[in-house]
Amino acid sequence: MKRKILLGLLIFLVLIQFIQPPQNNGPLIAVSDVSHVINTPPEVMNILHKSCYDCHSDHTEYPWYSKITPVNWWLNSHINDGKRGLNFSKFSTFTHRRQNKKLDETAELVEKHAMPLNSYLWIHKDAKLSDEQIKTIIAWAKAGQEQVMQDSLKTTVMH
Ligand code: HEC
Repeated sequence: MKRKILLGLLIFLVLIQFIQPPQNNGPLIAVSDVSHVINTPPEVMNILHKSCYDCHSDHTEYPWYSKITPVNWWLNSHINDGKRGLNFSKFSTFTHRRQNKKLDETAELVEKHAMPLNSYLWIHKDAKLSDEQIKTIIAWAKAGQEQVMQDSLKTTVMH
């Protein structure tokens, strides 16, 4: 009896491995990536890629265990939630108002150590931001807000 239950469990675990969520594997720098509208030096890009893009872009670097059901579904729901809030790969398609708001939230959440999520940092130790990197991201986001403001003024004048 016990062996049958174990065998049943094993078969179940093997079968659920075939139920995989869609992969978030678009290009690292999409056509509507934030770097095409906001001045983003390579050092900022590196920080965003390492600490934010797994959940806030169309390009996730999947760790080896990410293929295992149910880990994959858990990751997938984080990616979907993150992208719903902010997708850097779609940034240039946002209205100026939304771009401004997202940069504002970025500066705020990074300053509060609320992003990247703690649960993510347990596994991705290298994604943890140093004080220096936090300053860099805040400065980038603030300068970006200025830039969005200028862009929106330009479009108002042109119309
Ligand atoms: C492990 C995944 C993950 C990582 C890594 C991550 N985030 Fe998030 N982020 C989320 C989730 C989930 C939310 C919540 C979305 C919601 O509930 O609207 C969120 C919310 C946000 C929001 C607010 C969006 C909104 O509409 O409320 C901003 C801004 C943000 N993150 C910026 C960042 C930045 C900048 C980084 C990198 C320094 C980062 N995040 C890293 C998962 C992540």
